[in-house]
Amino acid sequence: MSKKIFIKTFGCQMNEYDSNRIIDLVKLIGYEKTNNQIDADCCILNTCHIRSKATEKVYSEIGRIKKNFKNAKKPLVIVAGCVAQAESEEMLERDPYIDMIIGPQSYHEINDKILNYFRENKKINLTEFNVTKKFDKLEKIKNNNSKISNFLTIQEGCDKFCNFCVVPYTRGPEYSRPFEQIINEAKNLVENGSKEIILLGQNVNAYHFISDGKEYKLSNLLLELEKIKDLVRVRFTTSHPKDMTKDLIDCFNNCSKLMPFLHLPVQSGSDKILKLMNRKHDIRFYYSIIEKLKKINSNIDFSSDFIIGYSEEDEGDFEKTMNLVKKIEFTNSYSFIFSARPGTPAAKLQKINNDVTKNRLKIIQNQLFNLQLNKNKELEEKKIEILVENKLKSQNSFFGRTRKMTPVIFESTSCNPGDLIQVEIISSNQNNLFGKHIENKFKAA
Ligand code: SAM
Ligand code: SF4
Ligand code: F3S
Repeated sequence: MSKKIFIKTFGCQMNEYDSNRIIDLVKLIGYEKTNNQIDADCCILNTCHIRSKATEKVYSEIGRIKKNFKNAKKPLVIVAGCVAQAESEEMLERDPYIDMIIGPQSYHEINDKILNYFRENKKINLTEFNVTKKFDKLEKIKNNNSKISNFLTIQEGCDKFCNFCVVPYTRGPEYSRPFEQIINEAKNLVENGSKEIILLGQNVNAYHFISDGKEYKLSNLLLELEKIKDLVRVRFTTSHPKDMTKDLIDCFNNCSKLMPFLHLPVQSGSDKILKLMNRKHDIRFYYSIIEKLKKINSNIDFSSDFIIGYSEEDEGDFEKTMNLVKKIEFTNSYSFIFSARPGTPAAKLQKINNDVTKNRLKIIQNQLFNLQLNKNKELEEKKIEILVENKLKSQNSFFGRTRKMTPVIFESTSCNPGDLIQVEIISSNQNNLFGKHIENKFKAA
């Protein structure tokens, strides 16, 4: 009988990709995925270290496992991901229920380590940065994901060192996977049924690979993906403004499969704050990127990330952020209160008043909420192209996304996951569009 493994994923899409690859790996030593924690012989928490609450979530999740297994045999408990990388020793000491720590650049060794653990019954702490070896190993193991939309990590780590951010410490320096390796994995996913690929990297647009004296950038990857016949949509995330080079901007014109939507985190609308954050770009530069993209394709929409209440942010700085939000009309954006992370240069900065920060967060979130609501409202009574992702539980109900990523729930009697169809939007709220399939009237390109 096969053993069961339960994996819970926190944090970004790169962690989601990693969790799927961990499942591909452990299958080779007889584990099968379960969505029911209580059935598991092994529980993995794939963790995120980006804000302080994320770490506490891990400990409360371990508490939940303990409770669930109070009257059952203890499962093997593995903490993986960015908290594991940052707090390995501390975690093993703080909670003896944890059996193994595996950092995000070491999980390719998980099978050997699990087998070792059962042979020697000794706690394992694996946090080396072995990213080349990781992808060399993963290349040999088929990516078994067979969803309609799949993530594909092309780049890892970060050399930008924004003063507030843990990523350069938890994921290590920038590394780009070999070009051919990525294209092969993409073809593989498409053979499995994938219609959309979302290229991932902590700084995806810093992708840079040299082979036989030839340089490959993200734009080369996008042009190559264009050639995969059954692939219909391509996206990439997360980009840094500084790496939005002309060749990449041109792809929004030259690549028919690249969707007209870009997540381009700005963090703040104030040059003073951007400088204090060590963001390496100012607002003029950010606007210039948006303008170039709009010029090439006036239909592109943008989303962003904002950090509110960074040290020394005054009313004027916040107003500049709000002006930027209104001017660019961001959709699908994220805003976070600054969280001082241990080990980063911003950790010791003077904090601004908590109530002031909370109030600013409320203001920006209201604005972003209204922008999203209005954008969605504008689509009511319109017919738009949807990629069908899956069937929902209720009869004739399906889920898909627009070209700009907005989720759509719609009725259809004839569509299948993977179809590119037209849907008439009937109603909307902040998060979703609702509509009905215009059946048999539109043939996907
Ligand atoms: N590499 C991307 C970039 O430069 O824009 C972002 C990657 S980071 C994983 C995702 C987001 O988390 C950031 O854009 C930032 O808004 C937020 N973030 C990172 N560190 C933070 C901190 N210490 N406090 C609050 N938010 C933070
Ligand atoms: Fe973090 Fe900055 Fe790197 Fe993004 S660019 S991952 S925010 S250090
Ligand atoms: Fe979190 Fe690590 Fe991603 S810190 S956001 S899981 S890179």
